[in-house]
Amino acid sequence: MRNNILYIDEVSSTNDAAKKLAIEGAKDGTVIVAESQTGGRGRRGRIWQSANGDGLYFSMILRHRAEAVKCQSFTLVAAVAVKDALNGCCGVGAAIKWPNDIILNEKKLCGILTETNMTGGMPDFMILGVGVNVNNPGFDGELIHKATSLFLETGAFVNKKELLEQIIGNLDEAYGQFKNAGFAGFLDIYKKDCLNIGQTVSAYNGKKEICGKAVDITELGELVIQTDDNIRLCINSGEVTLSPIIA
Ligand code: BTN
Repeated sequence: MRNNILYIDEVSSTNDAAKKLAIEGAKDGTVIVAESQTGGRGRRGRIWQSANGDGLYFSMILRHRAEAVKCQSFTLVAAVAVKDALNGCCGVGAAIKWPNDIILNEKKLCGILTETNMTGGMPDFMILGVGVNVNNPGFDGELIHKATSLFLETGAFVNKKELLEQIIGNLDEAYGQFKNAGFAGFLDIYKKDCLNIGQTVSAYNGKKEICGKAVDITELGELVIQTDDNIRLCINSGEVTLSPIIA
C-alpha cells in the first residue's frame, strides 16, 4: 500500500509544492494533491483553472536518473495511464492528443505538465503535474468550446478520491515498467491511443510552423510529420493543432 500521498487544501501550484518537497528530499513517487490551486499553470505559460474543488490537481515526484530526452517521454506514458484510469472509472472513451492532452468528444478533459530540475545534464528529478476536469459544471470564456469534464460528459458526479487512487495505481505501474523498458515498451499502445496519427496537423518546431500529416511516433516519443513536399520531420515537444478534428 502506498503511503506517500500528501493532501493539501489550497496551494499556488502542486508542481511548485512538489518541487519544494523534492528539494527537501521527498522520495521517488511522492504525490501531492490539492483541493484548489491559486496559480495552477499549464503548458506554454497558460493558466490552468483550478480555483475551486471541481477538478483533480496533483503532482508526482519522479527520480528516474536517465538522459533528459528519455525521462521526458514518461509524460506520454503518463497520458496512457491516466487516460486508461479515466475510461475505466467513468466508462468514457477518451484518447490522447500528442504529446499528452487527454481529449474526450473533441474537448480537453485532462492536461499534463512535466517540469524538470537538471543537474549535470541529467534530470535530478521531474515533476509530473496532472489536472483533470472532474465535476466542473461548465467552463467560462474560450474554454466553453475547448474544455469538458467527466460530469459534463456523463451527467454523474465522480468521487475524486476513488478516481485519484485509480490514476495513481495506473501511474505507479506504468512508471515501474518505464524504469525497466523505457518508452519503447509503450510505443504500440501509445500509437493506438493517439488521435493525431493519420490526421492533418500543424505544429511548431521551435518558432517555425510545420504543416503536414502525422504519420508516426518515434521510440523517443517524437511526433513524425510528413510535409506536403514529402519531408519527414520529428517534433519533440510543443503544441500540435489537429485539424479538422480539433480546431
Ligand atoms: C496543460 O495541458 O497545459 C497542462 C495542465 C497541467 C495542470 C496541472 S494541475 C496540477 C499541476 N499543477 C499545476 O500548476 N499544473 C499541473
